[in-house]
Amino acid sequence: MSFRTIDWKDGAVVLIDQTLLPHTEEWVRIGDAAAMVDAIKRLAVRGAPALGVAGAYGVALAARVHPPGSPEFEEVVRSLRSARPTAANLARMVDRAAAVAGEGYERVLREAHALRDEELAASLSMGERGADLVQELVTRRPIRTMTICNTGGLATVERGTALAVIQTLHERGVLGEALVLETRPVLQGSRLTTWELRRLGVPHRLLVDGAGPALLARGDVDVVLTGADRIAANGDTANKIGTFGLALGARWAGVPFVVVAPETSVDAGTPSGAGIEIEDRGVSEVVEVAGRLVAPAGTAATNPAFDVTPVGLVAALVTDRRVVRFEKGDFLADRGPD
Ligand code: MRU
Repeated sequence: MSFRTIDWKDGAVVLIDQTLLPHTEEWVRIGDAAAMVDAIKRLAVRGAPALGVAGAYGVALAARVHPPGSPEFEEVVRSLRSARPTAANLARMVDRAAAVAGEGYERVLREAHALRDEELAASLSMGERGADLVQELVTRRPIRTMTICNTGGLATVERGTALAVIQTLHERGVLGEALVLETRPVLQGSRLTTWELRRLGVPHRLLVDGAGPALLARGDVDVVLTGADRIAANGDTANKIGTFGLALGARWAGVPFVVVAPETSVDAGTPSGAGIEIEDRGVSEVVEVAGRLVAPAGTAATNPAFDVTPVGLVAALVTDRRVVRFEKGDFLADRGPD
Protein backbone atom coordinates (compact mmCIF):
# COMPACT_ATOMS: atom_id res chain seq x y z
CA MET A 1 0.00 0.00 0.00
CA SER A 2 1.72 3.13 -1.16
CA PHE A 3 -0.56 5.56 0.67
CA ARG A 4 -1.73 6.12 4.19
CA THR A 5 -5.36 5.14 4.64
CA ILE A 6 -5.81 7.80 7.34
CA ASP A 7 -3.83 11.03 7.59
CA TRP A 8 -3.97 14.74 8.35
CA LYS A 9 -4.03 17.27 5.52
CA ASP A 10 -4.70 21.02 5.48
CA GLY A 11 -6.47 21.16 8.84
CA ALA A 12 -8.60 18.03 8.51
CA VAL A 13 -8.41 14.25 8.70
CA VAL A 14 -8.41 12.57 5.32
CA LEU A 15 -9.44 8.94 5.16
CA ILE A 16 -10.56 6.46 2.55
CA ASP A 17 -14.26 5.64 3.02
CA GLN A 18 -14.14 1.88 3.63
CA THR A 19 -17.90 1.46 3.24
CA LEU A 20 -17.56 2.17 -0.49
CA LEU A 21 -14.76 -0.28 -1.26
CA PRO A 22 -14.03 -2.17 -3.43
CA HIS A 23 -16.16 -0.36 -6.03
CA THR A 24 -15.34 3.25 -5.26
CA GLU A 25 -12.15 4.79 -3.87
CA GLU A 26 -13.42 7.94 -2.22
CA TRP A 27 -11.47 10.04 0.24
CA VAL A 28 -13.45 11.97 2.82
CA ARG A 29 -12.32 15.05 4.73
CA ILE A 30 -13.33 15.13 8.36
CA GLY A 31 -13.14 18.58 9.90
CA ASP A 32 -14.98 18.17 13.19
CA ALA A 33 -15.23 15.61 15.97
CA ALA A 34 -18.93 14.84 15.46
CA ALA A 35 -18.19 13.82 11.86
CA MET A 36 -15.41 11.58 13.19
CA VAL A 37 -17.80 9.86 15.61
CA ASP A 38 -20.15 9.27 12.69
CA ALA A 39 -17.34 7.92 10.46
CA ILE A 40 -16.33 5.48 13.21
CA LYS A 41 -19.89 4.29 13.87
CA ARG A 42 -20.73 3.71 10.23
CA LEU A 43 -17.40 1.87 9.63
CA ALA A 44 -15.97 4.41 7.17
CA VAL A 45 -12.87 3.93 9.32
CA ARG A 46 -12.46 0.62 11.15
CA GLY A 47 -9.88 -1.86 12.43
CA ALA A 48 -8.47 -1.46 15.93
CA PRO A 49 -5.25 0.54 15.25
CA ALA A 50 -6.95 2.82 12.69
CA LEU A 51 -9.74 3.48 15.20
CA GLY A 52 -7.13 4.57 17.74
CA VAL A 53 -5.55 7.02 15.30
CA ALA A 54 -8.98 8.30 14.21
CA GLY A 55 -10.02 8.80 17.84
CA ALA A 56 -6.87 10.78 18.66
CA TYR A 57 -7.42 13.06 15.64
CA GLY A 58 -11.05 13.41 16.76
CA VAL A 59 -9.82 14.78 20.09
CA ALA A 60 -7.58 17.27 18.24
CA LEU A 61 -10.59 18.42 16.20
CA ALA A 62 -12.58 18.86 19.41
CA ALA A 63 -9.75 20.78 21.11
CA ARG A 64 -9.68 23.20 18.17
CA VAL A 65 -13.19 24.47 18.95
CA HIS A 66 -13.95 23.61 22.59
CA PRO A 67 -11.79 24.69 25.51
CA PRO A 68 -10.34 21.51 27.06
CA GLY A 69 -12.13 20.81 30.33
CA SER A 70 -15.35 22.46 29.14
CA PRO A 71 -18.54 20.34 29.26
CA GLU A 72 -18.66 20.43 25.42
CA PHE A 73 -15.11 19.07 25.14
CA GLU A 74 -15.73 16.36 27.73
CA GLU A 75 -18.93 15.30 25.97
CA VAL A 76 -17.16 14.94 22.61
CA VAL A 77 -14.35 12.93 24.21
CA ARG A 78 -16.96 10.63 25.79
CA SER A 79 -18.72 10.03 22.48
CA LEU A 80 -15.43 9.38 20.66
CA ARG A 81 -14.18 6.88 23.21
CA SER A 82 -17.47 4.95 23.25
CA ALA A 83 -18.22 5.07 19.50
CA ARG A 84 -17.14 1.42 19.30
CA PRO A 85 -16.53 -0.51 22.51
CA THR A 86 -14.49 -3.63 21.69
CA ALA A 87 -11.23 -2.34 20.17
CA ALA A 88 -8.90 -1.38 23.03
CA ASN A 89 -7.11 1.15 20.83
CA LEU A 90 -9.98 3.60 20.48
CA ALA A 91 -10.58 4.54 24.12
CA ARG A 92 -6.87 4.25 24.89
CA MET A 93 -5.76 6.66 22.15
CA VAL A 94 -8.62 9.07 22.85
CA ASP A 95 -7.48 9.16 26.48
CA ARG A 96 -3.85 9.66 25.47
CA ALA A 97 -4.73 12.61 23.25
CA ALA A 98 -7.15 14.08 25.80
CA ALA A 99 -4.46 13.88 28.51
CA VAL A 100 -2.45 16.64 26.78
CA ALA A 101 -5.46 18.79 25.85
CA GLY A 102 -4.67 21.22 28.65
CA GLU A 103 -1.58 22.25 26.64
CA GLY A 104 -3.71 23.36 23.70
CA TYR A 105 -4.90 22.22 20.29
CA GLU A 106 -1.45 22.20 18.64
CA ARG A 107 -0.13 19.89 21.34
CA VAL A 108 -3.06 17.45 20.90
CA LEU A 109 -2.48 17.45 17.16
CA ARG A 110 1.21 16.65 17.69
CA GLU A 111 0.19 13.76 19.95
CA ALA A 112 -2.19 12.42 17.28
CA HIS A 113 0.59 12.64 14.66
CA ALA A 114 2.91 10.78 17.03
CA LEU A 115 0.31 8.05 17.48
CA ARG A 116 -0.12 7.73 13.73
CA ASP A 117 3.66 7.38 13.31
CA GLU A 118 3.89 4.84 16.14
CA GLU A 119 1.20 2.68 14.53
CA LEU A 120 3.08 2.84 11.24
CA ALA A 121 6.33 1.74 12.86
CA ALA A 122 4.44 -0.98 14.75
CA SER A 123 3.12 -2.42 11.47
CA LEU A 124 6.63 -2.69 10.05
CA SER A 125 7.89 -4.40 13.18
CA MET A 126 4.95 -6.86 13.36
CA GLY A 127 5.43 -7.78 9.72
CA GLU A 128 9.09 -8.71 10.29
CA ARG A 129 8.63 -10.49 13.63
CA GLY A 130 5.54 -12.31 12.42
CA ALA A 131 7.20 -13.49 9.20
CA ASP A 132 10.24 -14.72 11.18
CA LEU A 133 7.94 -16.71 13.46
CA VAL A 134 5.90 -18.21 10.61
CA GLN A 135 9.08 -19.28 8.80
CA GLU A 136 10.17 -20.99 12.00
CA LEU A 137 6.80 -22.66 12.70
CA VAL A 138 6.11 -23.86 9.15
CA THR A 139 8.53 -26.15 7.33
CA ARG A 140 6.53 -26.49 4.12
CA ARG A 141 7.35 -24.12 1.20
CA PRO A 142 5.63 -22.22 -0.22
CA ILE A 143 3.62 -21.24 2.86
CA ARG A 144 -0.19 -21.19 2.68
CA THR A 145 -1.90 -18.77 5.08
CA MET A 146 -5.52 -18.27 6.10
CA THR A 147 -6.95 -15.04 7.52
CA ILE A 148 -10.26 -13.41 8.45
CA CYS A 149 -11.59 -9.84 8.34
CA ASN A 150 -9.27 -7.04 7.23
CA THR A 151 -5.98 -6.44 9.01
CA GLY A 152 -4.09 -4.51 6.35
CA GLY A 153 -3.26 -0.86 5.78
CA LEU A 154 -6.96 -0.04 5.87
CA ALA A 155 -7.20 -1.29 9.45
CA THR A 156 -4.04 0.51 10.57
CA VAL A 157 -2.26 3.33 8.74
CA GLU A 158 -0.12 1.33 6.33
CA ARG A 159 0.76 -2.39 5.95
CA GLY A 160 -1.28 -3.67 8.92
CA THR A 161 -1.00 -6.50 11.45
CA ALA A 162 -1.72 -10.06 10.24
CA LEU A 163 -1.80 -8.81 6.66
CA ALA A 164 1.59 -7.15 7.18
CA VAL A 165 2.96 -10.61 8.01
CA ILE A 166 1.41 -12.03 4.84
CA GLN A 167 2.83 -9.12 2.81
CA THR A 168 6.28 -9.65 4.32
CA LEU A 169 6.17 -13.40 3.57
CA HIS A 170 5.28 -12.50 -0.01
CA GLU A 171 8.14 -9.99 -0.24
CA ARG A 172 10.51 -12.67 1.09
CA GLY A 173 9.36 -14.99 -1.69
CA VAL A 174 8.06 -17.74 0.61
CA LEU A 175 4.29 -17.22 0.35
CA GLY A 176 2.21 -19.62 -1.72
CA GLU A 177 -1.19 -18.02 -1.30
CA ALA A 178 -3.37 -16.20 1.18
CA LEU A 179 -6.80 -17.72 1.78
CA VAL A 180 -9.26 -15.00 2.81
CA LEU A 181 -12.55 -15.58 4.63
CA GLU A 182 -15.30 -13.31 3.30
CA THR A 183 -16.23 -12.24 6.88
CA ARG A 184 -19.99 -11.94 7.08
CA PRO A 185 -21.92 -9.75 7.70
CA VAL A 186 -19.90 -6.65 6.72
CA LEU A 187 -17.61 -8.55 4.33
CA GLN A 188 -14.31 -6.97 5.34
CA GLY A 189 -12.54 -10.02 3.89
CA SER A 190 -14.14 -9.96 0.45
CA ARG A 191 -14.49 -6.19 0.10
CA LEU A 192 -11.29 -4.93 1.74
CA THR A 193 -8.67 -7.67 2.15
CA THR A 194 -8.92 -8.87 -1.44
CA TRP A 195 -8.74 -5.22 -2.58
CA GLU A 196 -5.52 -4.75 -0.63
CA LEU A 197 -3.96 -8.07 -1.68
CA ARG A 198 -4.71 -7.35 -5.33
CA ARG A 199 -2.99 -3.95 -5.07
CA LEU A 200 -0.01 -5.65 -3.43
CA GLY A 201 0.17 -8.42 -6.03
CA VAL A 202 -0.18 -11.11 -3.36
CA PRO A 203 -1.74 -14.37 -4.66
CA HIS A 204 -5.02 -15.02 -2.84
CA ARG A 205 -8.34 -16.84 -2.97
CA LEU A 206 -11.61 -15.89 -1.29
CA LEU A 207 -13.81 -18.40 0.53
CA VAL A 208 -17.07 -18.30 2.45
CA ASP A 209 -16.68 -18.23 6.21
CA GLY A 210 -18.09 -21.74 6.68
CA ALA A 211 -15.35 -23.19 4.45
CA GLY A 212 -12.52 -22.10 6.76
CA PRO A 213 -12.48 -25.11 9.12
CA ALA A 214 -13.09 -27.53 6.21
CA LEU A 215 -10.02 -26.28 4.33
CA LEU A 216 -7.98 -26.48 7.50
CA ALA A 217 -9.15 -30.06 8.10
CA ARG A 218 -8.24 -31.17 4.59
CA GLY A 219 -4.71 -29.82 4.89
CA ASP A 220 -4.87 -26.72 2.67
CA VAL A 221 -3.44 -24.34 5.27
CA ASP A 222 -0.07 -24.08 7.06
CA VAL A 223 -0.80 -21.20 9.44
CA VAL A 224 -3.78 -19.06 10.48
CA LEU A 225 -2.96 -15.37 11.02
CA THR A 226 -5.50 -12.97 12.53
CA GLY A 227 -5.57 -9.54 14.11
CA ALA A 228 -7.11 -8.60 17.45
CA ASP A 229 -9.36 -5.90 18.82
CA ARG A 230 -8.55 -6.45 22.47
CA ILE A 231 -6.24 -8.93 24.18
CA ALA A 232 -6.97 -9.61 27.84
CA ALA A 233 -4.17 -9.99 30.40
CA ASN A 234 -4.34 -13.79 30.17
CA GLY A 235 -4.08 -13.74 26.36
CA ASP A 236 -7.77 -14.35 25.53
CA THR A 237 -8.31 -12.47 22.28
CA ALA A 238 -11.37 -10.62 20.96
CA ASN A 239 -11.44 -10.37 17.17
CA LYS A 240 -13.97 -10.38 14.33
CA ILE A 241 -16.85 -12.84 14.70
CA GLY A 242 -15.79 -16.17 13.21
CA THR A 243 -12.24 -16.03 14.55
CA PHE A 244 -13.03 -18.46 17.39
CA GLY A 245 -14.40 -21.04 14.94
CA LEU A 246 -11.27 -20.68 12.86
CA ALA A 247 -9.11 -21.22 15.93
CA LEU A 248 -11.08 -24.38 16.80
CA GLY A 249 -10.64 -25.63 13.24
CA ALA A 250 -6.93 -24.87 13.38
CA ARG A 251 -6.54 -26.79 16.63
CA TRP A 252 -8.41 -29.77 15.15
CA ALA A 253 -6.12 -29.73 12.11
CA GLY A 254 -2.91 -29.16 14.10
CA VAL A 255 -2.28 -25.85 12.33
CA PRO A 256 -0.73 -22.98 14.35
CA PHE A 257 -3.12 -20.13 15.10
CA VAL A 258 -1.18 -16.87 15.45
CA VAL A 259 -2.54 -13.49 16.59
CA VAL A 260 -0.78 -10.35 15.34
CA ALA A 261 -1.57 -7.06 17.07
CA PRO A 262 0.25 -3.99 18.37
CA GLU A 263 0.85 -3.49 22.10
CA THR A 264 -1.86 -0.83 21.93
CA SER A 265 -4.43 -3.65 21.64
CA VAL A 266 -3.24 -5.38 24.83
CA ASP A 267 -5.51 -4.58 27.76
CA ALA A 268 -3.67 -5.56 30.94
CA GLY A 269 -6.57 -4.19 33.00
CA THR A 270 -9.00 -6.86 31.81
CA PRO A 271 -8.05 -10.20 33.39
CA SER A 272 -9.71 -12.52 30.84
CA GLY A 273 -11.93 -12.59 27.78
CA ALA A 274 -15.03 -12.80 29.98
CA GLY A 275 -14.52 -9.11 30.79
CA ILE A 276 -14.35 -7.91 27.17
CA GLU A 277 -17.39 -5.97 25.96
CA ILE A 278 -18.61 -7.35 22.64
CA GLU A 279 -20.22 -4.84 20.30
CA ASP A 280 -23.69 -5.81 19.07
CA ARG A 281 -24.35 -4.15 15.72
CA GLY A 282 -28.08 -4.84 15.41
CA VAL A 283 -30.17 -6.94 13.07
CA SER A 284 -30.03 -5.13 9.72
CA GLU A 285 -26.47 -6.26 8.88
CA VAL A 286 -27.65 -9.87 9.29
CA VAL A 287 -31.04 -9.84 7.57
CA GLU A 288 -29.92 -7.63 4.68
CA VAL A 289 -27.21 -7.95 2.04
CA ALA A 290 -26.37 -4.74 0.13
CA GLY A 291 -29.59 -3.14 1.42
CA ARG A 292 -31.80 -6.04 0.32
CA LEU A 293 -33.65 -8.36 2.71
CA VAL A 294 -32.35 -11.94 2.64
CA ALA A 295 -34.71 -13.21 5.35
CA PRO A 296 -38.46 -12.88 5.81
CA ALA A 297 -39.34 -9.36 6.96
CA GLY A 298 -39.40 -9.21 10.74
CA THR A 299 -36.98 -12.13 11.29
CA ALA A 300 -35.27 -11.81 14.66
CA ALA A 301 -31.47 -11.84 14.49
CA THR A 302 -28.44 -11.40 16.70
CA ASN A 303 -25.24 -9.75 15.53
CA PRO A 304 -22.22 -9.93 17.85
CA ALA A 305 -19.47 -8.20 15.86
CA PHE A 306 -16.65 -10.01 17.69
CA ASP A 307 -15.91 -13.24 19.51
CA VAL A 308 -13.28 -14.26 22.04
CA THR A 309 -10.71 -16.94 21.27
CA PRO A 310 -9.46 -18.53 24.50
CA VAL A 311 -5.70 -18.28 24.92
CA GLY A 312 -5.51 -22.09 24.97
CA LEU A 313 -6.16 -22.08 21.22
CA VAL A 314 -3.56 -19.38 20.43
CA ALA A 315 -0.10 -20.68 19.55
CA ALA A 316 1.53 -17.26 19.70
CA LEU A 317 0.92 -13.54 19.89
CA VAL A 318 3.15 -11.30 17.78
CA THR A 319 3.21 -7.64 18.78
CA ASP A 320 5.43 -4.79 17.63
CA ARG A 321 7.68 -5.46 20.61
CA ARG A 322 7.59 -9.16 21.48
CA VAL A 323 6.55 -12.66 20.52
CA VAL A 324 4.65 -14.54 23.23
CA ARG A 325 4.66 -18.30 22.58
CA PHE A 326 1.58 -19.44 24.53
CA GLU A 327 1.96 -22.96 23.14
CA LYS A 328 5.39 -23.13 24.79
CA GLY A 329 4.04 -22.00 28.18
CA ASP A 330 4.83 -18.28 27.88
CA PHE A 331 2.46 -15.90 29.67
CA LEU A 332 1.63 -12.40 28.51
CA ALA A 333 2.34 -11.06 31.98
CA ASP A 334 5.71 -12.86 32.34
CA ARG A 335 7.63 -9.86 31.06
CA GLY A 336 6.78 -6.56 29.52
CA PRO A 337 7.60 -5.67 25.95
CA ASP A 338 11.30 -5.49 24.97
O1 MRU B 1 -15.49 -4.41 12.89
P1 MRU B 1 -14.10 -4.14 12.38
O2 MRU B 1 -14.00 -4.21 10.90
O3 MRU B 1 -13.53 -2.87 12.95
O4 MRU B 1 -13.26 -5.35 12.97
C1 MRU B 1 -11.88 -5.39 12.72
C2 MRU B 1 -11.22 -6.63 13.17
O5 MRU B 1 -11.81 -7.49 13.77
C3 MRU B 1 -9.74 -6.73 12.93
O6 MRU B 1 -9.36 -8.06 12.81
C4 MRU B 1 -8.99 -6.10 14.11
O7 MRU B 1 -9.45 -4.81 14.38
C5 MRU B 1 -7.54 -6.07 13.89
S1 MRU B 1 -7.15 -4.90 12.64
C6 MRU B 1 -5.51 -4.75 12.44
